Amino acid sequence: MAETARVNPLVPRTGRIIKIVDETPDVKTFHITTASGKPFTPLPGQLAMLSLLDVGEAMFSITSQGPEHLELAIKRVGMLTDALHEAEEGQTVGIRGPYGNGFPVEELKGKDLLFIGGGIGLAPVRSLINYCIEHRQDYGHLWIIYGARSPADLCFKDDLFNNWPRVENCRVDVTVDRGDAGWQGHEGFVPAFVEELHPDPAGKVAITCGPPIMIKFVLQSMEKLGYKDDQIITTLEMRMKCGIGKCGRCNLGSCYVCLDGPVFTLAQLKQLPNEY
Ligand SMILES: Cc1cc2nc3c(=O)[nH]c(=O)nc-3n(C[C@H](O)[C@H](O)[C@H](O)COP(=O)(O)OP(=O)(O)OC[C@H]3O[C@@H](n4cnc5c(N)ncnc54)[C@H](O)[C@@H]3O)c2cc1C
Ligand code: FES
Repeated sequence: MAETARVNPLVPRTGRIIKIVDETPDVKTFHITTASGKPFTPLPGQLAMLSLLDVGEAMFSITSQGPEHLELAIKRVGMLTDALHEAEEGQTVGIRGPYGNGFPVEELKGKDLLFIGGGIGLAPVRSLINYCIEHRQDYGHLWIIYGARSPADLCFKDDLFNNWPRVENCRVDVTVDRGDAGWQGHEGFVPAFVEELHPDPAGKVAITCGPPIMIKFVLQSMEKLGYKDDQIITTLEMRMKCGIGKCGRCNLGSCYVCLDGPVFTLAQLKQLPNEY
């Protein structure tokens, strides 16, 4: 069995959910390890295909990793994700990967980085933020701007309000579309908040991920602020089946998002058909 898994890249490895963290009413983070206790080591921004026997499989961003586990933040939207949200610690899952190109961590060295996330879109961006924190001396100023619909919908609250603000040379700004009685922070949409904060483009690269509508308006805001297309990086969520460039499900012009992406600069995306 183990031999088959090594030969055929489509055969999942047996994994186990070792911890489940409630992030929001419809997002949970699953900590997953393999039978050997050594899951694959992804680059930030890479993906994993997660499966449940008798239910199905789907692609998820690897939001963080430890020496013995991977973390996937999963929003409840349909059959597989419903079943995962009903799962308990100890549940067996299938896992294969890592897939995709990941963020260009070498090219980003020495740069100031601006992270702009919305909702569950913070999941892939978080993998890069944590990588930059682990390799703190290689990167300049880190600035995280994040928004969600309401305070209850903010993902990774511990990172946003405790861990990241304590990191040297790191700034975190959070907004919600609409606050509640206990919310004392900023209210408003992410693109307007970015314009209000007006991060200077000099020496910066911006990394953004969120719902398509947020990305559309964030890109317009970035242009207004003077960011060039090659200073903006995003990660795409095209539908995927195989994850290894075989099925053609994720093709965009001449490229396969599962191999050539999901991370692209805006300059690269403008060379591709606008089907994403
Ligand atoms: C590169 C990539 C990274 C992703 N990262 C994450 C992540 O970190 N966290 C997370 O929660 N989800 C992520 N997703 C989305 C996740 O794969 C889908 O939500 C999942 O396939 C839903 O499976 P389901 O069986 O629960 O829902 P289904 O029953 O298949 O579908 C439920 C609803 O979601 C829509 N849907 C299903 N799959 C997709 C998709 N791939 N893109 C857009 N809409 C879809 C359907 O049209 C339907 O409306 C990612 C997808 C890709 C391709
Ligand atoms: S998911 Fe099959 S080619 Fe990309």
